[in-house]
Amino acid sequence: MKTLETERLILRGFEENDLDDLFEYAQSPDVGPNAGWPPHKTKEDSLNILKMFIEKDDVWAIVEKKSNKVIGSYGLHRDLKRDNEKSKMIGYVLSDKFWGNGYVPEATQRVLKHAFEELDINIISVYHFCFNERSKRVIEKSGFKYEGILRLSSTLPNGDITDDVCYSMTKDEFLSK
Ligand SMILES: CC(C)(COP(=O)(O)OP(=O)(O)OC[C@H]1O[C@@H](n2cnc3c(N)ncnc32)[C@H](O)[C@@H]1OP(=O)(O)O)[C@@H](O)C(=O)NCCC(=O)NCCS
Repeated sequence: MKTLETERLILRGFEENDLDDLFEYAQSPDVGPNAGWPPHKTKEDSLNILKMFIEKDDVWAIVEKKSNKVIGSYGLHRDLKRDNEKSKMIGYVLSDKFWGNGYVPEATQRVLKHAFEELDINIISVYHFCFNERSKRVIEKSGFKYEGILRLSSTLPNGDITDDVCYSMTKDEFLSK
C-alpha cells in the first residue's frame, strides 16, 4: 500500500517485525470486539493476522511518529454490501492506550484524500455496531453522511447478532468540502 503521512502519523504496509506491537493492542478486550473480532490470545493469533494483512495488502499499520510504534490498523477494503467496483469501505482500530488524541480522525482525512484523489473511488462507506459510540464520534467528526441501520447484519465474536449503523461519503461530497 502507498505510504501516507499526516502531521502525527505514518500509515504504511504491515511488516513481519510489527508482531509485538500488533499483539500488544490486539489482546485488549476493548479493541477487537468493537470491530468484530475476538481478542488475540497468543502471538500466533497475531502472526496469522499479520501474514493476512501482508498478503491482502489492504490494511495500513498506523505508526505514531513520536514513538515510532505501530498503534493500530486502518483498512481500505472492498465493500461487500455494495455492488459497485468503485466503492470501498474503511475500518480501523487503535490501541486503547492511544484513544482520545484524534488519531483516527486524522488518519481518516488522509485516507479519504488518497482514495478520492489518487484512486478511482466514488464512494467510501463506514459501519459501526449500534453500541459503538466511540466509532460513531469518529464518523460524525469525519463528515460522513448517515444512511440508516442494516438490522441484524453482523455476528459478534460472542455469537450475538447485531445491527450495523451505515454511513458514506461520495467523491463529490469530499471534493466540495
Ligand atoms: C473508535 C476508535 C478507533 C476511536 O479512535 P480515536 O483516535 O481514539 O478517536 P478520537 O480521539 O476522535 O475519539 C473518539 C471518541 O472516543 C471517545 N474517547 C476518547 N478518549 C477515550 C478514552 N480514553 N476512553 C474511552 N473513550 C474515549 C470519545 O467519545 C471521543 O469522542 P469525542 O471526540 O466526541 O470526545 C477507538 O476508540 C478504537 O480503536 N476502538 C476499538 C475498535 C473500534 O471500535 N473500531 C471501529 C469499528 S467500527
